[in-house]
Amino acid sequence: MLDGEDGPGTQVAMEIIVALARIYDAEDLIPVSSCQVSGVSYENIGEAGVDFLESLRRGGCKTRVLATLNPCGLDIEDWAALGFSRTFHDNQARVLDAYTGLGLDPTCSCIPYELNNCPAPGEHVAWSESSAVSYVNSVIGAMTNREGGPSALASALTGFTGNYGLHLQANRVPTMHVRVNVPVRTHMDFGALGLTIGKFAGQGVPYLSGLDPAACTPARLRQMGAAMGASGAVALYHVEGVTPGHARHVKIAESQVTVHDIDDLSIESLPDGASHGGKLYPVDLVFLGCPHYTRDQVESILDEIKGRDVRAKLWLAVPRPVKRDLLASGAMNAIDPRVMLVADTCLVVCPVDSLDVHNVVTDSGKAYFYLKNKASVQVAYMDTARCLDAARSGYLPEWHDGEAGA
Ligand code: F3S
Repeated sequence: MLDGEDGPGTQVAMEIIVALARIYDAEDLIPVSSCQVSGVSYENIGEAGVDFLESLRRGGCKTRVLATLNPCGLDIEDWAALGFSRTFHDNQARVLDAYTGLGLDPTCSCIPYELNNCPAPGEHVAWSESSAVSYVNSVIGAMTNREGGPSALASALTGFTGNYGLHLQANRVPTMHVRVNVPVRTHMDFGALGLTIGKFAGQGVPYLSGLDPAACTPARLRQMGAAMGASGAVALYHVEGVTPGHARHVKIAESQVTVHDIDDLSIESLPDGASHGGKLYPVDLVFLGCPHYTRDQVESILDEIKGRDVRAKLWLAVPRPVKRDLLASGAMNAIDPRVMLVADTCLVVCPVDSLDVHNVVTDSGKAYFYLKNKASVQVAYMDTARCLDAARSGYLPEWHDGEAGA
């Protein structure tokens, strides 16, 4: 491949793999069984990204293993109703054409392991998108580095990655012990914990003790890992009594010199100008589904709002098959039309600055972290039940400081 015998596209892909392997002192390359490729939204990759993908396609290469795509910049079917422009749609379509031409599966979701791409424990994969990386490493027990979009794509086109980093068992042991001394119960609590740990953990491997295993549902672990990967670069964590192989790591964790105690989960979670009590703060959009919600998660939301008026737009971001199944089942029939199932995308990777959306509420620590930095958006981070209150009233409900963990 490196010599160009499989064509120029594959040669470029292998050059990327070999360059990274050399940078990280990998002794060899190893085969991967699947890839998850980020860098799909035209908003993020622009013309330079499209040119790169089209040059690979002209180079005649194809995926050699299952490779799924991360969310793109819009809902491929309902983009106009959601407020995306024709120009953006046409540009996004060129990106998706280029990827599918290379053989990638346009799943456009960050929870591919709930769809058609779920590796077995111990399998080597090459995934990008921090929340998917965190989940596949920590909860499923497969092995990947935190790839970037181009390197995950290069692995998809060659079938290989460098054998370094989290592909080596020696690098998967805890590097710090995080003692959680406060109750962590709600969806928001788990996100707040992830944001807190990410800030000090960097690229480390935290071992968490003190969490109630019964509270550690897959959805909450997704939320925590996504937040950790947003405020830090954590690609793997262990939770006592919960994650695969945790018992193997407990002694190492207890002998760690680096110990962090979590005694407080309160985070700055209101936008500038939102009042504490007093003046009502209007909400344009409530965004739930980061990482993408599963069907069960959506159904529990629909149960709460069925037959009730909703005054702010409510987006539920989901994988395309979840949207298709819910619509076919009639689950949206008695639901206010302001509630929309949004497939293929999310508020973070879409061109949010071009939408008429300014005051946002979310139950996702990761979405909160990234939306805070968008010029046109003010964002509040609240637990799911309070997000639904905001959707129903069109205003932020009364807020109390330090709510997370309360
Ligand atoms: Fe997924 Fe978008 Fe959140 S890609 S993890 S829904 S930022």
